[in-house]
Amino acid sequence: CGIVGYVGTQPALDVVLAGLRRLEYRGYDSAGVAVLADGGLAAAKKAGKLGSLEKELATNPLPVGATGIGHTRWATHGAPTDTNAHPHLDNAGRVAVVHNGIIENFACLRAELTGRGHDLTSETDTEVVAHLLAEEFSSCADLGEAMRLVCRRLEGAFTLVAMHADEPDVVVGARRNSPLVVGVGQGEAFLASDVAAFIAHTRSAIELGQDQVVELRRDGVTVTGFDGRPADVRSYHVDWDVSAAEKGGYDYFMLKEIAEQPKAVADTLLGRVDASGSLTLDEVRIGAQELRETDKVVVVACGTAFHAGLIAKYAIEHWTRLPCEVELASEFRYRDPILDPRTLVIAISQSGETMDTLMALRHAREQGSKVLAICNTNGSTIPREADAVLYTHAGPEVAVASTKAFLTQLVACYLVALYLGQVRGTKWGDEIRAVVRELSRISREVERVLATMEPVRELARSLAEKDTVLFLGRHVGHPVALEGALKLKELAYMHAEGFAAGELKHGPIALIEEDLPVVVVVPSPAGRSVLHDKIVSNIQEIRARGARTIVVAEEGDEAVVPYADHLIRIPATPTLLQPLVATVPLQVFACELATARGNDVDQPRNLAKSVTVE
Ligand code: G6P
Repeated sequence: CGIVGYVGTQPALDVVLAGLRRLEYRGYDSAGVAVLADGGLAAAKKAGKLGSLEKELATNPLPVGATGIGHTRWATHGAPTDTNAHPHLDNAGRVAVVHNGIIENFACLRAELTGRGHDLTSETDTEVVAHLLAEEFSSCADLGEAMRLVCRRLEGAFTLVAMHADEPDVVVGARRNSPLVVGVGQGEAFLASDVAAFIAHTRSAIELGQDQVVELRRDGVTVTGFDGRPADVRSYHVDWDVSAAEKGGYDYFMLKEIAEQPKAVADTLLGRVDASGSLTLDEVRIGAQELRETDKVVVVACGTAFHAGLIAKYAIEHWTRLPCEVELASEFRYRDPILDPRTLVIAISQSGETMDTLMALRHAREQGSKVLAICNTNGSTIPREADAVLYTHAGPEVAVASTKAFLTQLVACYLVALYLGQVRGTKWGDEIRAVVRELSRISREVERVLATMEPVRELARSLAEKDTVLFLGRHVGHPVALEGALKLKELAYMHAEGFAAGELKHGPIALIEEDLPVVVVVPSPAGRSVLHDKIVSNIQEIRARGARTIVVAEEGDEAVVPYADHLIRIPATPTLLQPLVATVPLQVFACELATARGNDVDQPRNLAKSVTVE
């Protein structure tokens, strides 16, 4: 969910709505706002995207006030209805609260409140907080203190932002696990799940730590722990360009982000590799000795980042000879994984806030393992809690389906694998230097792929009415196939699956029927003929059963031509790097196909970009 709070001199509603617009990627199944004005509190909330709320406000405007809060929701407890939308108010309508996360003990708090005569009307876990705050405020008349008292009673992960009509110039926020940042302006202050919500107003930000409460006033902010003790805070300057979070002439953020990939890849490599083949990774602040003693690597991540991890495994094992496991972060800690101080855990996350990945990281650190984060969002929770971080420098990614972040995660994974190889002295030498040189050229190859995408778009449009698309790949092409299928599921809401091409004959081949589109990612032919030839056989097998084959193959690979109903060419690269060029057409394919089906590719149904609940 996305949260915004504001105290200042501008009309709060305008600031809050503009902030919510920037945060809508965090959830968009309902939205709501509240402002303090004329001694009272006024709120509006609506199921659906922010646009529905804005329409509602145009017909039923709220009074103008300079203190306000807002929320854009990704439903956890209760369906996305008007009633369940945030903010939630107490019975007297004096306190309003918005929330991100899950309050695990809400059922017993709710029973307790009902027993004391409170009337709770929604199905959410959040509403209890409004009522508890109202009770505490009635005895202490201090919203900050009321918030601290309430937070001490809550279990689970939460970010809360609240205001009270009896303290009209204050907004209070609280943070446990879910993200919350403070923006400090001249005579105004902001609270948000992400700095994007306020960078149009101020670049001066404060990170809130775990279990902290912040009180926002026009003349400044105070931060305390839940116990009331003043807290140390870290201020920082946000150096993102505002335009980086705007569409810049593209119809969708996703199109813009796909197009930005050559630059994103180059930015991730900047200062870390050079054309002579040398590699510098000063950020990996885990001692060389420790890295030499590492005996296993475990990658944890979710969604698209997990696919980056699957590809990382090939690179890490090949270049370092260290065993590498890749695990869905949501499964990881619950199966009692084998971890010790000699395990290096790599946590990959675009947002740096994914709760599943964060919990996996914490579990690993508790077992004494070192955690290296690969992350795109500066100062987010995962890099802050990790032992070291390699930032991907893709710039803000707004479209829910990840594209440029994925490519840069791959680059970062390759860099880590090469660096481990370098430090450990395994496989280091000409081969590795050659790969570094190839990497330093790769952004131009990505650019070349992007320049040839029109036939892919045309093909995607022609398949808009299909129900199923399958994706096949071998070796690193297998995770690429999984990612191609994920993109299509996320965006086009189609049945799409990725398979290891060699596994096809053991079951999935039964799915093949007349004219079923099957995308096949073909490994490079040069010097790796075994895999290449095997996949050419796989293509023939499915074509013989009626499949319509869409073949992604390197330029110059003539062997696939007779069996390809559609051929998508990608530049020749070293095998391990091929995902950097092979994924791009699959992103374009999914984006175009979804658009042809009339879907909103930036905000696909039911999803959120940053999922801060487990
Ligand atoms: C969500 C998004 C996915 C993303 C995953 C991991 O589910 O919808 O697109 O891949 O989270 O996100 P992260 O920020 O940890 O990379």
